[in-house]
Amino acid sequence: MTTSRLTPNDLRLGAQRLWLPYTQMQNHLPQLEIKTAKGSKIFLKDGRILIDGISSWWSVAHGYNHPHLVSEITRQAKILSHVMLAGFANDQTYKLAHRLCKFSEMDHVFFSDSGSTAVEVAMKMAWQFHINSGESQKIKFISFKNSYHGDTTGAMSLADLTSGMHKKFQKILLKNFSLDLPKNKNDLNKFEEFVKKNKKILAGIFIEPLAQCAGGMQFHSAEILKEIFNIAKKHKILFIADECAVGFFRTGKKFAINHAKIKPDILILGKALTGGMMTLAATLTSKEIFKKFLGNSLESALMHGPTFMGNPLACAAANASLDLFETENYAEKVLSDESFLKKELEKCRKKKNVRDVRVLGAIGVIEIDADRNKILALRKKFIETGIFLRPFENCIYTMPALNIKKTELQKITNSISEILS
Ligand SMILES: Cc1ncc(COP(=O)(O)O)c(C=O)c1O
Repeated sequence: MTTSRLTPNDLRLGAQRLWLPYTQMQNHLPQLEIKTAKGSKIFLKDGRILIDGISSWWSVAHGYNHPHLVSEITRQAKILSHVMLAGFANDQTYKLAHRLCKFSEMDHVFFSDSGSTAVEVAMKMAWQFHINSGESQKIKFISFKNSYHGDTTGAMSLADLTSGMHKKFQKILLKNFSLDLPKNKNDLNKFEEFVKKNKKILAGIFIEPLAQCAGGMQFHSAEILKEIFNIAKKHKILFIADECAVGFFRTGKKFAINHAKIKPDILILGKALTGGMMTLAATLTSKEIFKKFLGNSLESALMHGPTFMGNPLACAAANASLDLFETENYAEKVLSDESFLKKELEKCRKKKNVRDVRVLGAIGVIEIDADRNKILALRKKFIETGIFLRPFENCIYTMPALNIKKTELQKITNSISEILS
């Protein structure tokens, strides 16, 4: 059978049908027609080449079409693309379960399809952990202002509903506690008071360790992270680290929690897990959590099972991605990119409208004073300079592939500087 090729007509007809992410469909910018991508470069059909400064929403950690990932997925596709996990043990999923637990120093893993679903799984695990422990009144979560944990219903209920994009669903969503992220000792004392007062009904604390990304690119220190963890432990509240965005060397260490030397009760991973090749996420737990689900009947078991859970093709991608995380010296590379970003972006601090410049690992952020529409319009300007960035809220930011070349990173920082001028 010959494969059909996309024609200009297909593109036009498809455009009339497709509903795009986070997009006003009435008046959006035209989509860029892509031919292929390699490393950090995106090749458009009209001949333009763009450098991707945000690695496809921070997932394409090893760059596009990495030969090792392509070859492992191709190999696996010929062996077994999918089989249900209930009843069948396949090589890739079992291998990944063991490797990922070792790599993250967690004890057990539940696979699902996306970061948002992995967050839902974590919420359900936390609730049921307490139900199985005879504490079914522990149902509320603490999350932090500016946080983002995904777009599904449970995940939205962990967002900052006072200002974030999910604000309009406030009346519909679960009522959790969205608190200011403590910044100093005084805030930590207040935070602990809150935890102490509410601990009878608290199921857990959700945090994006070190960097709140989609909620506004805000950073906090490893010390604050550690203190929040200590308070959770002291009052026996589950500590849930959502590292969908910052896991896998983004902050310079394997995981952001490693900066604070802590082991969460639950760790959530996604995005870069497969090097952005396939959709897969993981909710990892400690032994203590897992054990609470053991018993003689299904009553105490976790009744959850997405159709494509542990999909062998996605797990092959993740195993190949782990090969690279284990062998490429990303820790060193990210530290060197961090120094480079600090040096280059800092030059923008004095420019008009720049409110703040901050860098953490391979995340560079410039916060600006401008109205929302002007900031969205910058996307087009970046493309004109050969760079793909997606400024949002009041941030221009870059989170490139971990193996981006310095010359490419320089083009990104030059473009930011030029546009701010
Ligand atoms: C911290 C965090 N959690 C969860 C998610 C949701 O992941 P997904 O888009 O794969 O559902 C995101 C996505 O940006 C994220 O940054």
